Amino acid sequence: MKHILVIHGPNLNLLGKRETGIYGKVTLPEINEAIKQKAKELDCQAKIKQSNSEGGIVSLIAEDKDWADALIINPAAYTHTSVAIRDAILAVGIPAIEVHLSNIYQREGFRQKSLVVGVCRGQIAGFGLQSYILALEAVATSEW
Ligand code: DQA
Repeated sequence: MKHILVIHGPNLNLLGKRETGIYGKVTLPEINEAIKQKAKELDCQAKIKQSNSEGGIVSLIAEDKDWADALIINPAAYTHTSVAIRDAILAVGIPAIEVHLSNIYQREGFRQKSLVVGVCRGQIAGFGLQSYILALEAVATSEW
C-alpha cells in the first residue's frame, strides 16, 4: 500500500471564503475528505497536513520522509518564492507532484513561475479539487 503525504500551504485553510471567484466554494475539509475517499479507492494511505509557514512546510516534509512513498504538495504562495521548500523536496528524495487549484499560467505574471516544479515529477493545475484527485491517480498508477 502506497503512503502518500499531502501538504497544503498557506491560506488554503481559508478556502470556501477566500477569493471564491478563483478558488470556488469548496472548503479544505471537503478537499481532505475527497482525498481520503479517493486514496481508499486506490488502495493507498493518505496523510494530510497544512501549514501557513514556509519553515512549517519544510518541517512537515522532513517529519514524514521515512513514511511517505510520494508527496502531493500545493505550496500555495510559496510556490513562487521558496528555495527552502524546493531544497526540502530534493533533500528527502521523495517523488513529488505539485498541485494547484487554479491555472497559475492564466494569472498574474508572478504566479506563472514555480521554484518547486523543477524538483517534482510534474504539476497539475487548474482543476480545483480535481487537481488533487488527478495527482492521487498519477501516484497510484506510477511505478515509483
Ligand atoms: C494556488 C496558487 C497560488 O498562486 C496561490 O498563492 C495560492 C493557491 C492554487 O492552488 O491555485 O494560494 O497554489
